[in-house]
Amino acid sequence: MSTSLTEFKDASTIAQKKPEEFWGKIAQQFQWKKPWTKVLDYDFLKPEVKWFLEGKLNITENCLDRHLSTQPDKTAILFEPNNPDEPSQHISYKELHQRVCQTANMLIANGAKKGDRICIYMPMVPELAISVLACARIGAIHSVVFAGFSVKALSARMNDASCNMLLTSDGGYRGAKTIALKEIADEALLSCPSVNCCIVFQRTNQNVAWNPIDKWWHEEIEKVGSDCPATEMDSEDPLFVLYTSGSTGKPKGLVHSCGGYMVYTAYTFKNVFQYTDNDVYWCTADIGWITGHSYIIYGPLANGATSMMFEGVPSYPDYDRFWEVCAKHKVNQFYTAPTAIRALQKHPTSLVEKHDLSSLKVLGSVGEPINDEAWHWYDKNIGKHKCPIVDTWWQTETGGILISSLAGVTPQKPTYATLPMPGIQAALLDNEGNELEGENEGILAIKQPWPSIARTIYGDHERYRQVYFSAYPGYYYPGDGALRDAEGNYRITGRIDDVVIVSGHNLGTAPIENALNEHPNVVESAVVGFPHDVKGNALQAFVIARTTADDIVILKNELRALVSKTIGPIAKPDRVQVVSGLPKTRSGKIMRRILRKLAAGEYDQLGDVSTLLNPEVVEEIKRQNN
Ligand code: WT7
Repeated sequence: MSTSLTEFKDASTIAQKKPEEFWGKIAQQFQWKKPWTKVLDYDFLKPEVKWFLEGKLNITENCLDRHLSTQPDKTAILFEPNNPDEPSQHISYKELHQRVCQTANMLIANGAKKGDRICIYMPMVPELAISVLACARIGAIHSVVFAGFSVKALSARMNDASCNMLLTSDGGYRGAKTIALKEIADEALLSCPSVNCCIVFQRTNQNVAWNPIDKWWHEEIEKVGSDCPATEMDSEDPLFVLYTSGSTGKPKGLVHSCGGYMVYTAYTFKNVFQYTDNDVYWCTADIGWITGHSYIIYGPLANGATSMMFEGVPSYPDYDRFWEVCAKHKVNQFYTAPTAIRALQKHPTSLVEKHDLSSLKVLGSVGEPINDEAWHWYDKNIGKHKCPIVDTWWQTETGGILISSLAGVTPQKPTYATLPMPGIQAALLDNEGNELEGENEGILAIKQPWPSIARTIYGDHERYRQVYFSAYPGYYYPGDGALRDAEGNYRITGRIDDVVIVSGHNLGTAPIENALNEHPNVVESAVVGFPHDVKGNALQAFVIARTTADDIVILKNELRALVSKTIGPIAKPDRVQVVSGLPKTRSGKIMRRILRKLAAGEYDQLGDVSTLLNPEVVEEIKRQNN
């Protein structure tokens, strides 16, 4: 671990000059069943990336078995339930190992095997993390779908990867609400013929319908023992698929591999958060997102850390829940999203001051750019000006953090993710793909592979190439813009494609448009993001209705409900505007740039609209809004 600026600089130099030596040395700290023969092989044009070639391992041996002799009784997962009156759970490494092995045996007993795709659609309970690790134990590829997603989003993901099995629960708690997960799963399964077994964990004890493929978790687990050898995996075997939105309607299932992902998430966890032995670390993300995969489960457990899992929401029972939990468990590292900070910042600081936050050492931010106001509020009220803030920039595709400061080791700068991690060669490009030097603003690109880069899009390698490697050949193209200061610090300015980050959730506008277009009254629609003070961005849908709907209010509500049902409540547009036309180029392409300006109310920045096919609709939209 780099604990001084000099060590960090040395690490960066070696990683840049001799990446194979650098990563090979780090990888040696793990348990391999068979050593690798070559550290790295890659060609960004194909694209093909391989790390630790021919190395054999099982990631769960590194996350669990390895710690049994040194710290069996240390808490691996600290579970804090939604309801503050329900006791928290301290699951030790020994117990977690035992429960993962038993769950793995339950999967095997129900027909699961290496290479199968197992969908996990569960609330934030320990069994979610246990399911993930149980899949990894037997070499089944887990595909976790965030429990806030609805029927079609779930079925599309299960079908895309032809999942064999689904792990779900009767329901889930979310603040004062209960979510009927099994009901959503049942409806999704109607169109998922590949799934032939559905194991249901009991969380809420609500009534559920029962189908021939359903099994109760608590009954199945009773039937098996807890001795389960770890399946030998090739370093490049897939570990999991995780979906992220793209600029077409079809979600992209990013595939991560075993060896490189383990090495990189473990390395970045330790270095960025400067985790030391008895720390309690809390990442508030959901395991349904990459942040939860890499920095609740794999990264922390590979380091033998205590990782907290929180089932609830920041606002329940009150807006001080985060701070209450930090105080209760004496949290040392706290990692959350700017949208949560902005939401909590609206409430009186007395809600923070009520709690003893003196255990905090490091604060983290992830998911979207953190604005200056939120940064300073976080620094002052939560960190009391004593905790470094790590603003970590990365993506589902990158598997782990690529740009961030190391807490208390490298300099921080408000609103800047700061410096690339050792081994990450970031560049800024202009539109033609020329590299920009020094202090500048441009398109962010990465020159060399790092161990946890996604290897492909499940079932569609060509799409993987097109989306990430074709715009600027020879680089990985993440789809973000950035600026760089004279010291080489990066500030991420936001997406430069049709993805909008709403409350830290990455949403493609295309699938939302597809959902809207399914309404019988909708002819065409276009969805864009506009700035929002809490969510960062919110969505506005422009829709052309088939008839002048008698009651526009009803139509708007139906459309919002439709999106919620199809994709999930997070994708619901804040505004729906019924229009008679959408601004189009003469070739018929919707001019989203103009819609974005209209949604933001920036009427003076529309640019020249006279070349449009239908400039009159721009005037109409402006008139409607005045
Ligand atoms: C997109 C990736 C990283 C895990 C959670 C989101 C944005 C992420 C930051 C940050 C500015 C950020 C980018 C990126 N983003 N972290 N610290 N500063 N922007 O993963 O859903 O794959 O979204 O989130 O736009 O491309 P994701």
